[in-house]
Parts: sequence; structure tokens; C-alpha cells
Amino acid sequence: MKKIFISSDHAGYNLKEKIKIYLNKKRYRFEDMGPFNNNSVDYPDYAHKVAKKVKKSKNNIGILICGTGLGMNIAANKHKNIRAAQCFNLKSTKLSRLHNDANIITLGARLLKKKNVLNYINTFLNTKFEGGRHSKRLRKI
Ligand code: RB5
Repeated sequence: MKKIFISSDHAGYNLKEKIKIYLNKKRYRFEDMGPFNNNSVDYPDYAHKVAKKVKKSKNNIGILICGTGLGMNIAANKHKNIRAAQCFNLKSTKLSRLHNDANIITLGARLLKKKNVLNYINTFLNTKFEGGRHSKRLRKI
């Protein structure tokens, strides 16, 4: 089973806590990399924390949440072998796994409807990379 690393900034904190309840309910193995309250923090600190963990193993996967998801995405994608996907609906979430083998999902807490997010998480965690022609493309990144 994949090990999940989850983190946010202050803007994503409440959504992170909601996602954790879901992960617990579904018995996923995860580690909360902080923050542990909603005091103001800098999102790159948390993006780097999670990216460093995720790139260590193919079995690791990350969830990063900030206000828009964009800052987390930009910071995480600075790391070699990190493919962070900004997911904004079910289709982008599914394709990020099928075609891009994304290993981190980035989410915008201020942009997304909370009721949809757990569906995105479920899809991200349960969709397998298609491989084939997409593997060659990933090697070119
Ligand atoms: C914090 O106010 C906000 O800038 C941050 O959560 C994120 O949206 C950055 O990309």
C-alpha cells in the first residue's frame, strides 16, 4: 500500500484536517507533515517537506493544499522526480494519474468545493498509471 504524505499552509489547513478524517476512515497509511494549527506559514516550506519524502520511493504519494494549490505546485515541481498535478475537477485528477503518473496532488482550498475534494482524493489514490506511450513522455520531462 502506498504511503501518503500530506501537508498544507494556513489557507489549506481546514481542508487538510477534513482529508485526514477521510484517510483514517478508509484506513490509508499517511503522515501529516504539518502545520498543526492554522497560524500563518509559508507554503514552500511544506511543499519541500512533502516533495523530499515522496521522491524517496515509488510507493510514496503526496497531498498538498494551499489557497489556490498553485504555490504548492510550483514549489513541489522544483524537485527531481516529482510530478505534482494541480487537480481542479475529476477529469484532471484522473488524467494526472493515467497519463502523467503524478505523485503529488495539489489542491486549492479557496477554489474548490469541499464536497468534491474527497472524490478527487479517492480518484487520485486509486487510479493507476497507464504506462505505454506515456512512459516515454515522462522520461522526456
Ligand atoms: C496564502 O495566502 C496563499 O498565497 C497561499 O495559500 C497559496 O494560494 C499560494 O499559492
